[in-house]
Amino acid sequence: MNGPRLHWQGRSVELWVQDKPWLVLGGELHNSSASSLAYFAEALDRACAVNINTILAPLYWELIEPSEGDYDFSLLDGILAAVRRRGLKWIPLWFGAMKNATACYAPEWVREDTRRFPRAETAPGRPANVLSCLATEAAVCDARAFAAVMQRIRQQDEQEQTVIMVQVENEPGLLGAARDRSPGAEAAFRGAVPAELMAGLVARADKLVPDLKACWQGRGSRQAGCWAEVFGDMAEEVFMAWHVARHTGQVAAAGRAAYALPMFANAWLVHGPGYEPGQYPSGGPIAKMLDIWRMGAPEIDFLAPDIYDADFRAKCAEYAQPENPLFIPEARNTAVAAAQAVYAIGAHRAIGFSPFGIEDMTAEHPLAEVYREIAHWTPLIHTVRRTHALTAFLQQADHEECTATIGPWSIRAQAEKSLDPQRPGCALVLQTAGKEFLVFGRGLVLRVSRVDQPEEPLEWRWVESGQCRAGDWFLERRLNGDETYHGTALRLGANWESVRARLL
Ligand code: DGJ
Repeated sequence: MNGPRLHWQGRSVELWVQDKPWLVLGGELHNSSASSLAYFAEALDRACAVNINTILAPLYWELIEPSEGDYDFSLLDGILAAVRRRGLKWIPLWFGAMKNATACYAPEWVREDTRRFPRAETAPGRPANVLSCLATEAAVCDARAFAAVMQRIRQQDEQEQTVIMVQVENEPGLLGAARDRSPGAEAAFRGAVPAELMAGLVARADKLVPDLKACWQGRGSRQAGCWAEVFGDMAEEVFMAWHVARHTGQVAAAGRAAYALPMFANAWLVHGPGYEPGQYPSGGPIAKMLDIWRMGAPEIDFLAPDIYDADFRAKCAEYAQPENPLFIPEARNTAVAAAQAVYAIGAHRAIGFSPFGIEDMTAEHPLAEVYREIAHWTPLIHTVRRTHALTAFLQQADHEECTATIGPWSIRAQAEKSLDPQRPGCALVLQTAGKEFLVFGRGLVLRVSRVDQPEEPLEWRWVESGQCRAGDWFLERRLNGDETYHGTALRLGANWESVRARLL
């Protein structure tokens, strides 16, 4: 049997565990919930009430290697056992040298020794609470500890595959300045852009993220020079992204050599226009820096957004790219998470979704119902996602209308109500046969027309409401008349509904 891996089929990618696709219906624990096994067990029980199948929980460098070279895996082993007892999977978050652009999870022997582990500086002589990525010892020791962790996971779990992916570091970058101003960083910034980065830019010239492309090409696509010459206004952030990615990649490479699980890095996003690098972690894997990260950290399989922003659709679209599967390790844990999960999985074939602070949620949270339903839909989702016969809608404005295409069909979703930001209209749409559809959602009216005649909604031959259970459909009642606008629409009411229908 193969280990957990990303399984690509053309442009579609799935996470495979024990040689089968695994859709992560996840939740991330608060930062300190995994530092005591008793506390963790209670938090995990609360998370289970939300019907998760995967828990995202940290492993802390400071507790794993409290003195240099002495490893303590008791938390790791205990978490693994607790997760297995509940029949879940685990995505460990490696809180190593970089956690939210600080070094707060580096062990004391690292944080205290600023000679061996120099800090980044936000201005010459002003050290930050983060290690300089340009100083090699930090990455060497971080990588060595992470390799020991991956080795332990392999020993304990290679057969069972409870651990299915790993997040390397957490929201890395530098806060307080656009770039590190420590002596080592100053010298590197004045020096030449590394040849590997230059070669990578040339090789990716056609597919670069638009901002980076405009910046580089606007300066004549230079193939040599110092950072400011090659990247102009973006130079400081690109410089940081390259070095933060190099550190993260070095850590990931050491871990992979011990046990090659899928690995990702997560991003603290730019929360709106006018934010400058340093107001968000400069050098982190934000959308504009995706190419730099790909080149600087090829050992990282994909980059993942922590989406706390209102424009959820736009953030998903920035990360759901041909080389980058969408996975959302953090999102708000309010009621809106339910609709966001549906949207990410349906519209972007996300390999998973995971709100932050899952242990604060209860069985009454709408995500609990949505995760329970999606678990039943998962066999169908895996079948249709390969044929692209899958889409989804998410309302983000009052009385909004959106369209999507599946094969020859244009699907128009209309929200008849004003936006309730916590309970927006949303729908997951699967085409299960030429003219047959399954829909799960609420608060939207769907009409289908031919792509070449988008203004003429087609009639439905029949519409049923019911339930999907383990991939099979169970009819509850036939819908017609007012409930389908007399055979022309699929109407999803205020509560979650499942509908099956066939066009005439
Ligand atoms: C984002 C971080 O990645 C999490 O670890 C946590 O600190 C949350 N922010 C808190 O909102």
